[in-house]
Amino acid sequence: MTAVPTHDELLALARAAAGTAYAPYSEFPVGAAVLGSDGTVHSGCNVENAAFGLTTCAERGAISAMVRAGTRQIDTVAIIGLRAAPCYPCGGCRQALAEFGCRTVVVEVDGVARAHALVDLLPHGFGPADLGEPLPRAEPRPGPDEGRPTRP
Ligand code: THU
Repeated sequence: MTAVPTHDELLALARAAAGTAYAPYSEFPVGAAVLGSDGTVHSGCNVENAAFGLTTCAERGAISAMVRAGTRQIDTVAIIGLRAAPCYPCGGCRQALAEFGCRTVVVEVDGVARAHALVDLLPHGFGPADLGEPLPRAEPRPGPDEGRPTRP
């Protein structure tokens, strides 16, 4: 995809990600696709665990993939729950999305993309700027293992 993906295209990517969800306990597969401000797209799905509290949400999986790829600014996130439409992000994921400056949240309502401003879903949120320190927006550095030969 070279052009900026549409909301419908982001929802389609989120749906594909939901298809890979590991959700044997809730049977509630979720997929998310984040569009970085640099135009890159990263997706994630929920991954559950027999120790239920270790479950990770689809949005956070997508954020992890994005950060690993070197992007730290989210423009838009699209979220699909295969068993619920619309599937809005949980409170923790709203906070995680806000950390990376996400502006727009897209969900599907009656088969149609609906966009919300994240600030409407998380009003008066706490964020990096509230710490009163420079924002941690520096370019990611190579990890300690990058470029190192692998051990035999
Ligand atoms: N879930 C997400 O992946 N994202 C959300 O924003 C809401 C909830 C997942 C977590 C769990 O695996 C399942 O949905 C039921 O809560």
